Order: sequence, then C-alpha cells, then structure tokens
Amino acid sequence: MSEPDAIFAAAERLLNGSNDRSKWSGKRVVVTAGPTREHLDPVRVITNPSSGRMGYALAEAARARGAEVVLVSGPTELAPPAGLTTKHVETTEEMQQALQSLVGNADALIMSAAPADYRPKAPVNTKRPRSAGPLTVELEATPDILGSLKRRKGMLVVGFALETGNGLANARSKMQNKALDFVILNDATEPGAGFEVTTNRVTILGRNGTKVDLPLLPKRDVADRILDVVETAL
Ligand code: CTP
Repeated sequence: MSEPDAIFAAAERLLNGSNDRSKWSGKRVVVTAGPTREHLDPVRVITNPSSGRMGYALAEAARARGAEVVLVSGPTELAPPAGLTTKHVETTEEMQQALQSLVGNADALIMSAAPADYRPKAPVNTKRPRSAGPLTVELEATPDILGSLKRRKGMLVVGFALETGNGLANARSKMQNKALDFVILNDATEPGAGFEVTTNRVTILGRNGTKVDLPLLPKRDVADRILDVVETAL
C-alpha cells in the first residue's frame, strides 16, 4: 500500500478539480528549502536553525495547484513530499549548482532556503581533537545564489528576507539588489515567526508596489496566501 502522504497528495489532486484552470497548472516551479551546512571537519559544521517547513509547504502548495515542482532541500528532518521531485544538497555551493541546472527551463523560482552565508576557508578532512586547545576558524563568504544564477528570461523569482530589525527597508533593498519580483519578509525575533516553528507571519512585497501583511498562520496557509499573491505575475 502507498504511504499515507502519497494517498493524501493523490486525493488532493483529484478533489481539487480546478487545477487545470489554475495559473500554476503545468508550470515548472523550483522551490528551495532548509538550511545548508558547511564543514569545518568531518564532524563539525556551520549551519542555522532553519527547519525547511516554509519551503516544503510552498512546494506542496504549488504541487496542489498543478505545478511540476522540484524541491531543492538542504538537510532537514522532513520527509520528501509526495508527487514532486526532491533533490537533496548539503552546502550552499551544491545548492547553487543544483539550481543552475534547473532554472534554465523553470517558470518560477521560490527561494525560501536559508543558505549558510559563511564557510571555513580551509576545511580539514580529519577530526581535530579538542585537546589541541582553542580554535580560530577563518571564514569566507559562500556564493550568493540568487545573485549568481543565470536565469531564464521571464522567470518569476521570489526571495525571502529574514530580518531582525529594519525589516521593510532591508527587504526592499534585497528585492532590488537580487532582482526579485517578490520578497517575503519575516522577522526572526517575532514569537511564532521565522525558523523552527510551524507558523509564520510574513509581509509580501512586490516590485510592482504590492504590500500584503498576513496574520500569524500555519506555514501551509502562509504558502497558499503567498502563491495567491505571486501568481498575479506568472
Ligand atoms: N540567498 C542566496 N544565497 C545566499 C544566501 C541567501 O541566494 N548565499 C537567498 C535566500 O534564499 C533568500 C535571499 O537570498 O531568498 C535573502 O537571504 P538573506 O540571508 O536574507 O540575504 P543575504 O544576501 O544573505 O543578506 P544578509 O545575510 O547580509 O542579510
């Protein structure tokens, strides 16, 4: 017998008879999710507390609307969603490479991953003993994925901005600098929003001047509300 989530996904597709008329129907959508991880040595990493839930919810919501979804996921504890393709990556550079080969023929990229921004400049391949004393690690910036991708002309690009203050201004400048159609702003310090929780409270900003403030909602509902807004530009 199929796994319960595969049965659920199939039932959702059958019951959601309006899929053929959905703006997402047949669209190729790439979604990224989760953190990435950069090794200092084989047993120690630099990462962040992203759970991947927001990205997985967006991938599921796009699939439920009839899109052909590829989910590019950093390390998370979440099961790959049924009915779509999941590619697992570990580092920011691996995520960049996986995306570069996918965005050539994608209609939309939703970049909800939280890639690690720094990596050790000189990782080692044996475990350094703690008895060796204090450790200073020199870090270098990882590639800016959104900034470096060669994009298909006309591809819809949605980015995220997880901020800890000055959110609107920072999100608007990310939308500009990273050439995004929409940016989803959430505040890492707000209870119930951001990393490691099942809910989120976001503001959706669009290049066309759109500004939609959503209430605190489960991430799957946030995903549907985001798709409702961004599909206007599909
Ligand atoms: N992002 C990216 N490549 C990175 C880091 C982030 O493409 N190396 C993407 C994220 O997936 C998100 C957007 O860029 O959609 C904004 O991420 P954020 O971490 O807020 O932006 P940074 O460019 O890393 O800026 P800063 O950390 O300086 O705020």
